Amino acid sequence: MHAAQCAACTKSGPAKYGTTNNTHRVLTISICGRPCDSALFLQKGCCTNRVTIKTPVRILFIGDIFGRPGRTLVKEKLSSLAKDQAIDLVLANGENAAAGFGITPALAEELFEMGIDVLTTGNHVWDKREIVDYFESADGNAHSPARRLLRPANYPPGMPGRGVYEGRKRDVPYAVINLQGRVFMAANDDPFRAADHLIKSVKAKIIFVDFHAEATSEKIALGWHLDGRITALVGTHTHVPTADERILPNGTAYITDVGMTGPYDSVIGVKKELVVGKFLSNMPTRFEAATGDARLCAVVVDCDDQTGHAKTITRLMVA
Ligand code: FE2
Repeated sequence: MHAAQCAACTKSGPAKYGTTNNTHRVLTISICGRPCDSALFLQKGCCTNRVTIKTPVRILFIGDIFGRPGRTLVKEKLSSLAKDQAIDLVLANGENAAAGFGITPALAEELFEMGIDVLTTGNHVWDKREIVDYFESADGNAHSPARRLLRPANYPPGMPGRGVYEGRKRDVPYAVINLQGRVFMAANDDPFRAADHLIKSVKAKIIFVDFHAEATSEKIALGWHLDGRITALVGTHTHVPTADERILPNGTAYITDVGMTGPYDSVIGVKKELVVGKFLSNMPTRFEAATGDARLCAVVVDCDDQTGHAKTITRLMVA
């Protein structure tokens, strides 16, 4: 429900009688008390107390989907969450979808069918080798599911897959960029310069960045570096949600880590007794995905499609 001021009487109030056009972004409202639809307003002039306001584009980003518990929760919750929150675009990190380690083509397509528009990944992207063929199957089809699965853009040149996707949703152009950090992680190319380069090449005003990184300092630094040039930078990989969501001074939404979508009765998704045992013994241990206390962690970002600037960022945790 959007608050607005009536054009005729100047009263403020909720948009009680609202209709949206096909793009879901322009809302015609009546505050005078009579329910009308916008077509009747224009045709018969039955109500003068109307005003048209533009609603922001609303993006849902779901944090790292971990194993079957994470996938099941997305399947159970995404449809109602998207409807209740009037979500326009759904993004998610899926690099842990296959029992915590990588993602298969079948699981990627299962997640797309649940309503996710673009999937990002990170350091686990190559864990399931069949994903290489899947990336290569996207050649020549700019919007196929395989093309909407991203790997970090700052991997060495020539690797399979892409780190940026440009599409349209509800007639609004948008871009998603996936980057990986270098602090306490593999020595990929510089994510800062990779971001600078990619942003220049993107045409859309709305640019959403998933920075898959370990160090909080590296994530915050990239947020400041890109402030005002992208719509949002969200951190993934550490699986623990941080409470620092905010709009940076030049209009970029930021959070250090969105948190995991998966079993919280665990150590970042893995059976806790296995991880505790490894810390105690320092012996090689085969990690297995945990199952209990599944939660969906996400953020909702509202933004302006003309400027690409964010207006709000809200953290969610759904059990
Ligand atoms: Fe990761």
